[in-house]
Amino acid sequence: MASQEFARLPGFRDFPPEEFARRAHIQRAWRRVARRYGFEEYDGPPLESLGLYVEKSGEEIVGQLYNFVDKGDRAVALRPEMTPSLARILAERSRGLSKPIRWFSMPQLFRYERAQRGRLREHFQWNVDIVGEAGVAADAEVAAIAIDGLRELGLTADDFAARVSDRRLLTALLGVIGVDDDRLGVAFAVIDKIDRLPEDKADRLFADDVGLDDLQIGALRRMLDASDLDDVAEIFGQDEAVAPELQRLREYVAVLEAMGLGDFVQLDLRIVRGLAYYTGIVFELFDRKGELRAICGGGRYDRLLERVGGEPLPAVGFGLGDVVLGELLADRGLIPAYERSLDYFIVSVSEDERAAALRLAHDLRDRGHVVAYALRIQGVGKQLKVAAREGAKAVLIVGPDELQRGVVVERDMTSGEQQEIPIGDVG
Ligand code: HAM
Repeated sequence: MASQEFARLPGFRDFPPEEFARRAHIQRAWRRVARRYGFEEYDGPPLESLGLYVEKSGEEIVGQLYNFVDKGDRAVALRPEMTPSLARILAERSRGLSKPIRWFSMPQLFRYERAQRGRLREHFQWNVDIVGEAGVAADAEVAAIAIDGLRELGLTADDFAARVSDRRLLTALLGVIGVDDDRLGVAFAVIDKIDRLPEDKADRLFADDVGLDDLQIGALRRMLDASDLDDVAEIFGQDEAVAPELQRLREYVAVLEAMGLGDFVQLDLRIVRGLAYYTGIVFELFDRKGELRAICGGGRYDRLLERVGGEPLPAVGFGLGDVVLGELLADRGLIPAYERSLDYFIVSVSEDERAAALRLAHDLRDRGHVVAYALRIQGVGKQLKVAAREGAKAVLIVGPDELQRGVVVERDMTSGEQQEIPIGDVG
């Protein structure tokens, strides 16, 4: 046990090989899917100027920053999310790139969160963004990638769904209900928390902070409970401001349906997203049983690039974390068993065969095989035990008589069968 003084910090993880394999399994799937959609991989620095987040991300994340003043007196922060870095990187170089820009990344992010299931103080987050395309086809494309990222790992429409909303539609609907423009931000903040608040407390906030009466709160609740667009259209569809917003969301759903992903999509106007920069369609992925926190969140943010000093480019994307996803995969038995594996373990019968064994090992490695051997002199029995423990598929025994005849003994570790092979023919 490490002494208390050197213990791992709360909310941080070690990745010994077994844990690392699980993380690599998830990240390989993410990378495969992003490449299949024609996206290019990028990264940025883990440390950024504090100002990048203070102005762009919104209060919730700013309260969770790991920030400090560096030795050059700069106010800096470990990145809590990737989107501001992406905006900054593109502000410098987007003019030279053909649009739409389709980039993905898998950064490790840091947030000083309250410890709870599914939330740590570091996590890896798959970020996929399309920059330079304002149409709903781009919104649908990134949602499809998020869905496919989970399908690639074996999850189905029975396991998770995308809950979809639109900040513009919500703004129009709140206008019809009678929310004043200057109370919209407060209304969004209460709606964002509504699943975590007792009903009477939320109603009090709608009354006191948003200024709604009982009738208006009733209409708001009916709207938030609507589970498909037809319900919303029936109640509010006649309104001039609402109709075009509804139409856009219909087109978005139609694109996902055309791809065959309709079963994964459901309307949920309670999704507004905590981050400050979203401007349009937003979505989160949740497990169907509702046991876990959000697996993924994203949406359209058309003004962020300009606000960071770049070209005014529309943008849409998501972040999908490895923590909740890892829990869901474990619950569904979808994490592959960890196995060590070697193609060959080379056993030297005595010190005299050492040089020949080293040569053989190196030749095999040059040809791409995974090879190990004992790093110190050991008896043959002990070496065979180590070979089995390390998951060797075959053992090559290099002995004095065999060497003289230019052969080695190959033992298949599954069948136990042995045969002599000319040393040049191995592998
Ligand atoms: P976010 O909703 O803050 O969005 O995070 C996205 C996902 O990252 C969450 O759904 C969750 O899976 C994971 N996540 C966030 N915080 C933690 C944590 N403390 N521990 C474990 N997992 C966590 C964003 O970060 C946006 N920048 C996403 C985006 C990209 N929007 C457009 N492009």
